[in-house]
Amino acid sequence: MTAQRTYGRWLVIPQGGDGSSAGLFIGTDRGVFTLKVSPDDLKRLIEAKLHLAGLAKEQAAVVADVLVFADIRGVHSHGAMRVEYYAERIAKGGINVNPQIDWQVTGACTAICDGDNGVGHYMAKLAMDEAINIAAKNGVAVVGVRNISHSGAVGYFVKQAVERKMIGISVCQSDPMVVPYGGTDPYYGTNPIAFGAPSNTDEAIIFDMATSVQAWGKILHARSKHEAIPPTWAVDDQGVPTTDPFKVHALLPIADAKGYGLMMMVDILSGVLLGLPFGNKVSSMYADLSAYRRLGQLHVVINPSFFTDLDQFLANITQTMRDLNNMRPAPGFDMVYYPGQREELKRAEYTQTGIEIVDSIFEYLVSDVIHHNFYDHKDPFAE
Ligand code: NAI
Repeated sequence: MTAQRTYGRWLVIPQGGDGSSAGLFIGTDRGVFTLKVSPDDLKRLIEAKLHLAGLAKEQAAVVADVLVFADIRGVHSHGAMRVEYYAERIAKGGINVNPQIDWQVTGACTAICDGDNGVGHYMAKLAMDEAINIAAKNGVAVVGVRNISHSGAVGYFVKQAVERKMIGISVCQSDPMVVPYGGTDPYYGTNPIAFGAPSNTDEAIIFDMATSVQAWGKILHARSKHEAIPPTWAVDDQGVPTTDPFKVHALLPIADAKGYGLMMMVDILSGVLLGLPFGNKVSSMYADLSAYRRLGQLHVVINPSFFTDLDQFLANITQTMRDLNNMRPAPGFDMVYYPGQREELKRAEYTQTGIEIVDSIFEYLVSDVIHHNFYDHKDPFAE
């Protein structure tokens, strides 16, 4: 182990037998200490921590891959900062570490994967693999995943389809924390929607968003950095917009009634359709870490070759991306990006420089601690 002094405090950096260090560079971001960690080191640290918490190595590796997918694309709200929460839930029994997966093939293009409350990232990945196999054979697939825990950034799963030159769509439930349009208290989750379309290059459209103005993880990220949030993100317990991330009572849907309609659609597709708790009956992420979450997710895969000429389709997606990039930017914008492009640029940057990680997260990852009993607040809006 070596310790490196930075800005008046010490940061411990572990070294392997080969003298390599996981922390590559120390920086600062408005008073919050950050460091750059290589994607492989970050993956290794996350995998090790989740394994220490009780998750089988194969499953821990998939979770690490999904989290690093988010971090390397700059979506830190769904990256390494979630590890301690997962570790606490695993350690307390709220994620089944020995799940008996039950597959039901319910039609030519349909299947349901019951994940037995195993870790969501792993189950959602398996289910997408199956959806891709079905769509390769039959043109389309609709695969439900039920009884899982949180699955992270859902864009990861549509990327699986994109890598096989298919269109991927994935939606999942999230715990109730968003006010329905015109309401005061939360009913729906931040219910994300991801859509991916492949091109004839390595680039792809990966549209991946929460149906709330911001994901809850963005509030957590603001808390971790002690930053104010814009007043359009959330309301306090009186239903009044707040800029204090610690006073958030409920989030706001995107585009008023339209976002509210989209989050309802997600809840029906990934909850009601799969016979799971829905609406404000969906379990909370933070209320009881020893209970299974019973969440649902739905993947749709469309094989373009069943609808049109595949090469032409892929060329037209490339054309779409180029057309958009060549559009005249509005004042204040440098250019028009296609969805996922900025994250791809971040991935290229972080691949070179290492991924920027808040030092407290890094220190937790390199420590022997499984968790600090930090998240089990019996409060849906925990830290
Ligand atoms: P975001 O607001 O950062 O981005 C949403 C989409 O808009 C992305 O596809 C992005 O590429 C695109 N975009 C953003 N700025 C753009 C620009 N200037 N030009 C073109 N496109 C642009 O994402 P958000 O809503 O904060 O979600 C973050 C992550 O949280 C996602 O990965 C989502 O899957 C995840 N999430 C997961 C949940 C779960 O329960 N598993 C719940 C909610 C969110």
